[in-house]
Amino acid sequence: MEQTKFVLPESELPRRWYNVRADMPNPMQPILHPGTGQPVGPDDLAPLFPMELIAQEVSDEAEIAIPEEVLELYALWRPTPLYRAHRLEQAVGTRSRIFYKYEGVSPAGSHKPNTAVAQAFYNKREGRSRLATETGAGQWGSALALACKLLGLECKVYMVRVSYDQKPFRRLLIETWGASVVASPSEDTQSGRAVLTERPDSPGSLGIAISEAVEDAAGREDTAYSLGSVLGHVLLHQTVIGQEAIKQMEQAGAFPDLVVGCFGGGSNFAGLAFPFLREKLAGRDVDFLACEPAACPTLTRGHFAYDFGDTGMLTPLVPMHTLGHDFVPAPIHAGGLRYHGAAPLVSQLVRDGLIRAEAYLQNDVFASAVQFAGSEGIVPAPESAHAVHGALQAARAADDAGVERTILFNLSGHGHFDMAAYDNYLAGKLVDLALDDAELERALRATEGLPAVA
Ligand SMILES: Cc1ncc(COP(=O)(O)O)c(C=O)c1O
Repeated sequence: MEQTKFVLPESELPRRWYNVRADMPNPMQPILHPGTGQPVGPDDLAPLFPMELIAQEVSDEAEIAIPEEVLELYALWRPTPLYRAHRLEQAVGTRSRIFYKYEGVSPAGSHKPNTAVAQAFYNKREGRSRLATETGAGQWGSALALACKLLGLECKVYMVRVSYDQKPFRRLLIETWGASVVASPSEDTQSGRAVLTERPDSPGSLGIAISEAVEDAAGREDTAYSLGSVLGHVLLHQTVIGQEAIKQMEQAGAFPDLVVGCFGGGSNFAGLAFPFLREKLAGRDVDFLACEPAACPTLTRGHFAYDFGDTGMLTPLVPMHTLGHDFVPAPIHAGGLRYHGAAPLVSQLVRDGLIRAEAYLQNDVFASAVQFAGSEGIVPAPESAHAVHGALQAARAADDAGVERTILFNLSGHGHFDMAAYDNYLAGKLVDLALDDAELERALRATEGLPAVA
């Protein structure tokens, strides 16, 4: 019998995070202060983040040691398993080998706690007692609530309105771990009230919720802001995924020629991909595919430009693929992929041709998710289902071309709190939503007049 599951002992937990900045062929462009147009410095960021995270954001060291306390918390769910999807391969009749790294075994059910515990740890060590954050699907909010609970911090979560309504159990999970949660846009902040005045029935977006959380943190000494994706330090913390996967692929006697991840802000994708990218830059042959929704096609149709990370224009200017900071994506079920921007590190690598992206419609994505669940058992989170679909598309294309590939994808979370989405899909009620050209053109105008990228 061929082996299905590749597991590592706790002693094999990675001791260092991998920092892709050290190896990138072209450096990422600096993040700018919107007032001065100059690169932001530590003092600009200090009201929002602890110094250690600011240092990680700009570090050029290839490896950064993981504190012992963080390793102890990682040991609650890491190392996570890597699977060979034998049954899926058989079901679709592909000649390719398909592997997946499963991050849904964390207490919150996704990869998000990998950075949540690290961020909570550094904030606590530097004297903060409360964190404010946004959440799209509720995965990040629950991960940070868990981390704050484990480390004894208070936590306030601004949860995008559609998810708050669609996912009451995610909200309850956040509350079970002791955090407080409000629907965003909310009455609790100026930016939330401004959106509600213009559009009382706003479904919310990550961009709006970020404005609320940033405003909350900037207004209180005891509070820092915590972001679940996009920033360099978040991607850095996620690289434990890819480092473990390299060892597990070795156990399987294989190395991928394609690494796939779904793409919201970029953290699960980068977490798996960057350690393999290090191998590529050292001469190995491997391609990378980021999978996004057609309703929010940031990498495939967005412009590479300086833009605000949030709708309220409170954040610094970030060099990234963007659809425009006031873009509100259609309420697809993959709430965690509804973000107008992208991680600047991934954006630069897309620009350099090292990473490719594709965008999919949600009915196709759910069809692949149901096929995966029927073969492998695990019900994917709607976000992760984009990676399942991307991997299956790649396997089909390889079969059509008469080649065999070794495909590895990140199954970033389970969908146990997303069954309403599956209900809609199974009942044939899911609407395919692709961004239309007129709305894209309108939304992109929001970046006009901002500094130009080099
Ligand atoms: C399970 C899961 N996967 C992926 C994402 C997308 O985020 P990122 O692109 O940062 O991995 C989310 C976001 O909420 C998520 O919950």
